[in-house]
Amino acid sequence: MGFTMKVERVVHDEVFSLLVASGLFQDVTLTVTAADVGQAFDGSNLVTTARDSGGKLIAVCRALTDFTRHCFVATLAVHPEAKGKGVGKSLLNFTHAQAGDPKRIVIFLHSAPESVGFYEAIGFKRELTCFSLNNIS
Ligand SMILES: CC(C)(COP(=O)(O)OP(=O)(O)OC[C@H]1O[C@@H](n2cnc3c(N)ncnc32)[C@H](O)[C@@H]1OP(=O)(O)O)[C@@H](O)C(=O)NCCC(=O)NCCS
Repeated sequence: MGFTMKVERVVHDEVFSLLVASGLFQDVTLTVTAADVGQAFDGSNLVTTARDSGGKLIAVCRALTDFTRHCFVATLAVHPEAKGKGVGKSLLNFTHAQAGDPKRIVIFLHSAPESVGFYEAIGFKRELTCFSLNNIS
């Protein structure tokens, strides 16, 4: 499948529609609005996209990188019609390359339960020493 990847500032409604279509919000406890998504994307210093030959947004990745050692990938979503075609893997590799020197930058992320197999398939290592702190009930 032909697609183009780049670093870009995304239009909030466009990316919100993609995230909803991807199913990313299906199991979340809190309601996520387009304004929440806009704030999150505006507050991230590395946003990468994949678009098809007609310019349609088919995948997005939102990350926070220090361009030195650590890059936290907070969102990755592929449109249902583009899933299973290597877009997710390509966009993560592209994001890694944009986040700093790929030989020095480590990518961290929290996987949705149903996506664990994806990260294992593309070579991510499962860590036993990650922690989180939150008050979400
Ligand atoms: C998870 C997601 C990003 C994967 O993107 P994708 O473009 O469909 O995946 P790719 O086509 O790049 O797959 C790369 C490899 O992972 C495998 N894979 C993809 N999804 C998988 C899954 N859910 N379980 C196991 N393996 C999976 C593919 O078979 C492929 O393996 P191969 O290289 O041996 O052929 C996409 O399905 C998605 O957006 N899901 C909904 C949102 C979501 O869960 N995002 C992640 C939140 S942490």
